[in-house]
Amino acid sequence: MTGIKPKTLADFDSELAAEHIKGQWLIDPLLERLAGGPRPAGQAHIWRWRDIEARLDEACDVLAEGLTARRSLALMNPALPGGTTHTLTAGIQMLNPGEQAWAHRHTMSAIRFVIRGGPGLSTVVDGEACQMDDYDLVLTPSWTWHDHHNDTTGNPVWLDALDIGLIMSLNTGFYETYGEERQALRPSQGEYLSQRAGLVRPVWEQRKERLAPFRYAWSDVEPVLLSMADQEGSPYDGVVLEYVNPMTGGPTTPTLSCWVQMLRPHEQTQSHRHTSSSIYFVVRGEGTTRVGDEEISWGQHDTFVVPNWLEHSFRNSSASSEAILFSVNDIPTLRALGLYYEQPETSLGTAPWPAVPARPGTTGGR
Ligand SMILES: [Fe+2]
Ligand SMILES: [Fe+2]
Repeated sequence: MTGIKPKTLADFDSELAAEHIKGQWLIDPLLERLAGGPRPAGQAHIWRWRDIEARLDEACDVLAEGLTARRSLALMNPALPGGTTHTLTAGIQMLNPGEQAWAHRHTMSAIRFVIRGGPGLSTVVDGEACQMDDYDLVLTPSWTWHDHHNDTTGNPVWLDALDIGLIMSLNTGFYETYGEERQALRPSQGEYLSQRAGLVRPVWEQRKERLAPFRYAWSDVEPVLLSMADQEGSPYDGVVLEYVNPMTGGPTTPTLSCWVQMLRPHEQTQSHRHTSSSIYFVVRGEGTTRVGDEEISWGQHDTFVVPNWLEHSFRNSSASSEAILFSVNDIPTLRALGLYYEQPETSLGTAPWPAVPARPGTTGGR
């Protein structure tokens, strides 16, 4: 015997660590964490409109026109280090009368859902001025120039949501100021999109199809939603519609999908969970959302969050009125990566086409 102590596993681990190597046997706790699926990131939470509105009014008093930031209150999940979900951050922004929020762009995609707007309020996106009426949706997709203008005498407000958590986790954040407060407008407003996002389009141009600016007027969206009140809808969301990118026919942006859903009087949905996370804004109505063991009671203009992989269901409390929720989620990102899962079943895009009406006196079919 030489008297040399045999090397132990602990000694070996230390030697490896000094060389920036880790044995897979030390990663076993990670495998234990993976068993049973993802842990929800963050928790359910609601931000009441009356509280947010009061804080926005205060922000207008204490914060002069921001030259380095917007007057936006970000909604921070109490159980996350930052963000509303692990991928999304929502905020509520207010402008003072006559104020503008200077032009810039970033790789985060943003959506804006107008809470209180009207003629005189607009967001300019890549030279297109998008008017912002109540409950309109305006997109400022990744790397599009955008500035906001309040030519009204009031204090408009909107909800914005960005894919900040996603972009930062991929370390792909870029940001640039335009150099002027206001970007130049296209010579003919509406022409750019009308010539490219309608029934026909130029053959000789490249198509910037996934990241074009769009405005979805509530006056166009709401009638479609209401007209579908007698349809079956989704067992988990009621009558729920996705805001479509008109150039691709796909989701709202490559990373974000915006939805609007109607819960009919006393409608109670079934419970499910999925790997996507969502932020909800109550357009009108009152109801409850059960998320895990918690029940959230919501009313008009409240904002609440449903983290990933937590069971949730909705109930409209009213026996006479519909409840309408706008929401934004990260489903396009998960689907693009093949990581969208739902339990107990996949509900997106699974119902059959609506049947073609049968000739009178026949049962239809072939
Ligand atoms: Fe921005
Ligand atoms: Fe859901």
